[in-house]
Amino acid sequence: MEVLSSRKELLWLMMVIVIFAGAKCRQPVLHRVGGGKYAWKPNINFTDWASHEQFYVGDWLYFGFNISCYNVLEVNKTSYDRCIDKNFIKNVTKGGRDVFNLTEAKPYYFINSGDYCFKGMKLALCVENAPPDPTYSLLRNSSTKIYGPIILLPLLGYVAVRILFVQYV
Ligand SMILES: *[C@@H]1O[C@H](CO)[C@@H](O)[C@H](O)[C@H]1NC(C)=O
Ligand SMILES: *[C@@H]1O[C@H](CO)[C@@H](O)[C@H](O)[C@H]1NC(C)=O
Ligand SMILES: *[C@@H]1O[C@H](CO)[C@@H](O)[C@H](O)[C@H]1NC(C)=O
Ligand SMILES: *[C@@H]1O[C@H](CO)[C@@H](O)[C@H](O)[C@H]1NC(C)=O
Ligand SMILES: *[C@@H]1O[C@H](CO)[C@@H](O)[C@H](O)[C@H]1NC(C)=O
Repeated sequence: MEVLSSRKELLWLMMVIVIFAGAKCRQPVLHRVGGGKYAWKPNINFTDWASHEQFYVGDWLYFGFNISCYNVLEVNKTSYDRCIDKNFIKNVTKGGRDVFNLTEAKPYYFINSGDYCFKGMKLALCVENAPPDPTYSLLRNSSTKIYGPIILLPLLGYVAVRILFVQYV
């Protein structure tokens, strides 16, 4: 009876640890450019879209578009500002369901070649380094400073004592 209940507690404790440990690593996010499966097209405000997203190193961009009309070129800031499609950095265009890996913490610029760029088919975004461990930021945040240790430490101690008690006394 005692053994059974301490086993349950141990399981529960392991779950808590797994949840905390699991929260450590943020999974990479696939950002669908323009907010849809097929949203690299004119009349979408990509500046507005990007301003509602958080881009981190390791994330992906997904450009969904009609290959017979559109394309995606990675360019520098000057070319982005002026819609220059010559001497681009990278032609991202493959089949119209194209993925781009955000590998560095820096600004990235993309345009559609030709007139469509002037019609707003251009995207600028800033990639940041992966966010800090959320447990750590939870502990750092002054208003919630105490919750982490308060939850975990006595729990660990309690379960340890229970297990010792059941096994050796
Ligand atoms: C696009 O959205 C941004 C930010 O919301 C805004 O500042 C800008 O004026 C918009 N551009 C157009 C062409 O509507
Ligand atoms: C892509 O554009 C071409 C040319 O405008 C059009 O004929 C075709 O239907 C479009 N395809 C899709 C899937 O929208
Ligand atoms: C950006 O690219 C254009 C086109 O290749 C080039 O002329 C220009 O010098 C580049 N600007 C910078 C700041 O690298
Ligand atoms: C980019 O690549 C696509 C697919 O390979 C190709 O059709 C297109 O002509 C290229 N665009 C430029 C500007 O090189
Ligand atoms: C994407 O970038 C990350 C970080 O550099 C890298 O680890 C990963 O292998 C890349 N994935 C592909 C498919 O290129």
